[in-house]
Amino acid sequence: MAEIRLDKLRKEFGKLVAVRDVTLTFPTGTVNCLLGPSGCGKTTLMRMIAGLETPTAGEVYFAGERVTHLSPSQRNIGMVFQYPVVYRGMSVYRNIEIPLIEIKDLSPQERKRRIESVLETLDLAKFAKQDVSDLDNGTRQKVSVARAVARQPKIILFDEPVTNVDIGSKTQLKRALKQLVKQHNQTIIYVTHDQTEAMTLADTILLMLDGEIVQTGAPRELYDSPRDRFAGFFFGNPGMNFIPCPVEQHNGSSTLGKPLFAQPMRVTGLTGQPEVTIGIRPERVRVLTETAANTVPATILREAMVAGGQRLLTLKVGATTLKAKVPPTDTFRAGNTVHVECPVEHVVLFGSDERRLEAALQA
Ligand SMILES: Nc1ncnc2c1ncn2[C@@H]1O[C@H](COP(=O)(O)OP(=O)(O)O)[C@@H](O)[C@H]1O
Ligand SMILES: [Mg+2]
Repeated sequence: MAEIRLDKLRKEFGKLVAVRDVTLTFPTGTVNCLLGPSGCGKTTLMRMIAGLETPTAGEVYFAGERVTHLSPSQRNIGMVFQYPVVYRGMSVYRNIEIPLIEIKDLSPQERKRRIESVLETLDLAKFAKQDVSDLDNGTRQKVSVARAVARQPKIILFDEPVTNVDIGSKTQLKRALKQLVKQHNQTIIYVTHDQTEAMTLADTILLMLDGEIVQTGAPRELYDSPRDRFAGFFFGNPGMNFIPCPVEQHNGSSTLGKPLFAQPMRVTGLTGQPEVTIGIRPERVRVLTETAANTVPATILREAMVAGGQRLLTLKVGATTLKAKVPPTDTFRAGNTVHVECPVEHVVLFGSDERRLEAALQA
């Protein structure tokens, strides 16, 4: 059992409220990614869980037991920070071994087995005898990870562990983390501002803004049903498009039309809003060379290569711009006229308070 429960956890720094009464449970054996922009309180929240920061109010429980008053060492958790923490002047092997020696009922054979296993997973075996002082930052960070993981604590906290390592180590470290986090039924909290990382690692993503958790869910859930415009924009690369659209009346029904739909589209569940905001992810926008049912004409303003070899088109549709992610082809060039379809099943509607509406477009 390594469930972590936070009860109205709060941290103030003078007038600034860094963490605002957060109540949450991280179930045993899950990987939880805390995702949010810089300064939203992620590190402060982690440090309170670790015992490195005293909460202004609220409690922390591990496996049902209150630990709020316990020191970091009494909490027995593993931690990996943004910058590698290693014992300089010692070998990689020794760095991983030291915390294991403190575990009383661990036999020397088991100790050796654990060290060799993490060295292998993190591709560190070839550095085992080297002094950590002689290694680059990325490799040192791998040593930090190896050390935290080899102890096999029930809880491990990662605070942006790949942010400050070079691209090569980053990819390797991410791959290793993905393997490691699933091995020991540990409860993991992983802080990142990088949503791609969160998407690949997490069972659950906790989206944070201004000291509060604004949405919690499986990656897919956050992707498909952002609770508000912030979630839609922050989660996605690039984020969701937001296009204002007036609500019109046609034959007694509320409809949405220009700029995104050629024909009026019936929408149910609206409660008298004169206007809504249409949210659609760039990868959901269909870009065609010919007109089709319910396409609107658009001009390609810009095109750029993005990750995965895809192309990101910036389109002008009526008076607004719309981003679309398309597979790599030579068809789409800046200046071209194309035809755009926004499939209703991928459209999310937002109200003037920026919250997602329960309203739905009819196909
Ligand atoms: N020790 C501190 N003293 C004063 N303000 C702090 C301290 N630590 C963090 N803060 C402030 O609290 C807010 C949250 O910071 P932090 O938890 O580091 O955010 P994140 O990790 O999401 O970038 C920020 O506005 C930051 O400036
Ligand atoms: Mg931080």
